[in-house]
Amino acid sequence: MQSGGDCSNGFHGDNHRELAWEDKQVAGLSSFGRAKRRSRGGARDPKGNLPNGLRVSDQPGEHKLLETQESPAPCTDFDVAYFHSYAHVGIHEEMIKDRARTETYRQAIMQHQSFIQGKVVVDVGCGTGILSIFCAQAGAKRVYAVDASDIAVQAKEVVKANGLADKVIVLHGRVEDVEIDEEVDVIISEWMGYMLLYESMLGSVITARDRWLKPGGLILPSHATLYMAPISHPDRYSHSIDFWRNIYGIDMSAMMQLAKQCAFEEPSVESISGENVLTWPEVVKHIDCQTIKIQELDSVTARYKFKSMMRAPMHGFAFWFDVEFSGPASKNSSATSVASGSSSVTSSGEGNPKKRTNPSDALVLSTSPEAPPTHWQQTIVYFYDPIDVEQDQVIEGSVTLSQSKENRRFMNIHLEYSSAGRSFVKESVMR
Ligand SMILES: C[S@@+](CC[C@H](N)C(=O)[O-])C[C@H]1O[C@@H](n2cnc3c(N)ncnc32)[C@H](O)[C@@H]1O
Repeated sequence: MQSGGDCSNGFHGDNHRELAWEDKQVAGLSSFGRAKRRSRGGARDPKGNLPNGLRVSDQPGEHKLLETQESPAPCTDFDVAYFHSYAHVGIHEEMIKDRARTETYRQAIMQHQSFIQGKVVVDVGCGTGILSIFCAQAGAKRVYAVDASDIAVQAKEVVKANGLADKVIVLHGRVEDVEIDEEVDVIISEWMGYMLLYESMLGSVITARDRWLKPGGLILPSHATLYMAPISHPDRYSHSIDFWRNIYGIDMSAMMQLAKQCAFEEPSVESISGENVLTWPEVVKHIDCQTIKIQELDSVTARYKFKSMMRAPMHGFAFWFDVEFSGPASKNSSATSVASGSSSVTSSGEGNPKKRTNPSDALVLSTSPEAPPTHWQQTIVYFYDPIDVEQDQVIEGSVTLSQSKENRRFMNIHLEYSSAGRSFVKESVMR
């Protein structure tokens, strides 16, 4: 694990800003977050009973493969439910309204126009087709827009309505299963889940890369980095736990144990500000999309060692990520680099392009507490009770993120903590 401390590590230590993504969400969608929607709303029932009353075997266009050594990962009932959750308009509305996300992708495509013009592109998980259309607008000769969800039906219509049916070929199926009879120059994909790795879509990008990408081809985004940092969040604790001490003059503290269990057992996707963060973050995992192997994603372990920069009650750890769009273009060009950057940025409002001052001047989409808010927010692994830490106190341990055996879209989090003679382990599952 690298230690944090400079401005290229996904965190900028001053210029604190409150985030209020939830407040900006469409009414009725606030508890319908991106991955929660898939797993809590759709993918939980292994028998395949979906929220709309359908069973997985009723879903059109789905088939299961026998697992052989050469076969791609089989399409499980959980996967079917996962794809089904992406057929809902709300999830696409939420992603497209996330301007930091969508604008950065568009700018990345435009910045790499010279690598896209006249070239063949695959959009892994095209959804409504938005990124495929950006690529077509950037001059791609052909774009294969692949999605296993029924949203592909709408993507086809959108492509047609924009007069791009001759350029954008929508393939309704899994990247693991569809056939493309040519090599491609570029892969584009928006695959990141909460805490980067939740929902395990990166494996499908790797599959696409290994099936179709020409040697030296471009992958956007090119790199991804997951960070963690200890946090203090007294407001959250008092809002969810201390609240029970005195309700209308009644001592309801007997509720507190249950409240802790319910609030803090699972990781929580929420927005924090830079003021909540006790010290510089550390890198949990850095991914080079050109070289990463699927097996590396089964389980990721990192050791951490922080020194608290202040005396405070510590409530747990926050996780966030950034992705970088650096192809050969950004290495050679001095094109204006725009990002909802994780490092040296000037704040000028949600979704506005930011000048990033990292050495390669690459475009970065950051979900750091200090970057413009995104629908990913941050993911917090809370302790059940706060721990008082002193300034300069060392906090160390390890974190292991692994795909759940129950459902590979879920993520097990094993957190080992040790500080000032006290140590414990917290196990949680992101469902
Ligand atoms: C996060 S959404 C991105 C949608 C769109 N590219 C955008 O940026 O708005 C991911 C999409 O990938 C699709 N997807 C995930 N894994 C896939 C796979 N293995 N094969 C085909 N589609 C997949 C999902 O159905 C979903 O529509």
